[in-house]
Amino acid sequence: MGALDGKVAVVTGGTRGLGLAIAQAFSAEGAAVVVASRSQQAVDAAVAQLQAARGRAAGRQVDVGDLTQVEALAACAKDQFGGLDVWVNNAGVAGPYGPTLDFTPDVFYQVVQTNVVGVYNGSRTAMRIFQAQHHGKLINVLGHGYKGPVPWQNAYSASKAWGRSFTMALAAETKASGVEVFAFNPGMVLTDLLTDVEVIGGSEGRLRRFPAVVRMWAKPPELPARKAVWIASTATDGRTGLLINLFSPWQMLAGALGEGWRSLTGHPAPPDLVRVRTVPPASR
Ligand SMILES: NC(=O)c1ccc[n+]([C@@H]2O[C@H](COP(=O)([O-])OP(=O)(O)OC[C@H]3O[C@@H](n4cnc5c(N)ncnc54)[C@H](OP(=O)(O)O)[C@@H]3O)[C@@H](O)[C@H]2O)c1
Repeated sequence: MGALDGKVAVVTGGTRGLGLAIAQAFSAEGAAVVVASRSQQAVDAAVAQLQAARGRAAGRQVDVGDLTQVEALAACAKDQFGGLDVWVNNAGVAGPYGPTLDFTPDVFYQVVQTNVVGVYNGSRTAMRIFQAQHHGKLINVLGHGYKGPVPWQNAYSASKAWGRSFTMALAAETKASGVEVFAFNPGMVLTDLLTDVEVIGGSEGRLRRFPAVVRMWAKPPELPARKAVWIASTATDGRTGLLINLFSPWQMLAGALGEGWRSLTGHPAPPDLVRVRTVPPASR
């Protein structure tokens, strides 16, 4: 018997990276899963992958920044699988690394539209359904910066700090309703978002140590996906308002010791996982 048998889950951004790993883990635990992203091709590929592993899966092309599309996603889950029990607001974009004032406004707005407006749209849509049926679990994915400001990553980090505050307020407001709301920081995860980095021209030097940081602390998406199964399961019944953080000091220490040992013993560094692309600063 799976931990999520009979449940229906929506995972935004479920076509690759952490979202796909969460969709696969949910599916392996018995949930029917509906994935969404902006690319129909990516949605079709993810659904085919889930179905090939004998999962019950569907998908929909959705931009989470558009409330109408997000509501259609919820309707799709109910039509296809007869209900909605879990909603993961996972879709996110990082934006480039660099000084805030050098961001092209459209790029800044895209981060806000996805990471802020998208989380609001998903939370609003899922919570209205959950409250009407008196059950359901909402999981909002946080990220670097959720605890406070991160210079040179201001769009992303501020959006994640907003995500934390928004999620905790929502959990407090809905405490007595039988619905559960969680914030989940997966730590550094080996996905496109982490390894395919854009940097605004002039800030390249600030990313000098980034490949070593990724080597030390990034983990495969299957690890946080397993934690997401736990959050979505009955193990968290009655525990609304939890913030689950997988980036612990112990993991940081273990990663740093591993990297230190490698350089002490003269072992060559593994091939670089990080690709950095330079984009021009916005004209002033
Ligand atoms: N990787 C890390 O180290 C890390 C660390 C902490 C937190 N996180 C968080 O984990 C979540 C997933 O990130 P990831 O690393 O898996 O990133 P990723 O590999 O880049 O995947 C992002 C997913 O979101 C979708 N997406 C992006 N914008 C969207 C939009 N407007 N509407 C709908 N779907 C959209 C993408 O598909 P399309 O491009 O096809 O739309 C893709 O499926 C994000 O919230 C991120 O902030 C990641």
